[in-house]
Amino acid sequence: MDGNGRWAKKRALPRIVGHEYGVRTVREITETAAQLGIQYLTLYTFSTENWNRPAMEISGLMNLLVRTIRKEIKTLINQKIKLKTIGDISSLPPDVYHELEEAVEKTKGFDQMTLILAINYSSRWDIINAVKTIAQQQIPPENIEHHTLSSFLSTASFPDPELIIRTSGEFRISNFLLWEAAYAEFLFTEKFWPDFTKKHFLEAIANFQNRERRFGKTSEQLNETNT
Ligand code: IPE
Ligand code: MG
Repeated sequence: MDGNGRWAKKRALPRIVGHEYGVRTVREITETAAQLGIQYLTLYTFSTENWNRPAMEISGLMNLLVRTIRKEIKTLINQKIKLKTIGDISSLPPDVYHELEEAVEKTKGFDQMTLILAINYSSRWDIINAVKTIAQQQIPPENIEHHTLSSFLSTASFPDPELIIRTSGEFRISNFLLWEAAYAEFLFTEKFWPDFTKKHFLEAIANFQNRERRFGKTSEQLNETNT
């Protein structure tokens, strides 16, 4: 979810206003994803690198997170959406941590869609933690397969992402799901996150549906299995 700050700047508004408008997009995209029957939606909300931002913006974002969860928890429950997080949420300010934990607990029984918030997350952090666990458990090298690493990541219980959308005209992955994105399709859009609407999301999905996902095979091989 990128471009909140530039969206605000373009309107001579404080950056936090951009983040607040970004929450409207979160609502619209989450609702649309659930309606479409998408099972997993991951939102890159706050990276470990975002701590380098000015303190005022960080506290504004944390405050917005708490307010948003408080406000939206009813909708999550009504729509039977399970909330999960990836990232080190235990080192967030205590009120943010507790709000997240409570929302995760309240929605744990639902299965309409899983909404995963990546907060205080970075993929390298996650991979390093997984490697540390593998070393601590003294798993013999010959037993280490790609599933082994996957099973120690914070995304262990989720499937790999099929489509990754990055808004705001940046062509970077910025430490997001590096391992999991091995065969993901990418879509880059110029739209700032607050301007990214249901229409753009549907277009992105239509675009994804027209791609040929070969997973290393040739087109001919794929056509053989299809017929
Ligand atoms: C939102 O957009 C991402 C968050 C960290 C919440 P940005 O705040 O990165 O917006 P730009 O990149 O400055 O436009
Ligand atoms: Mg940005």
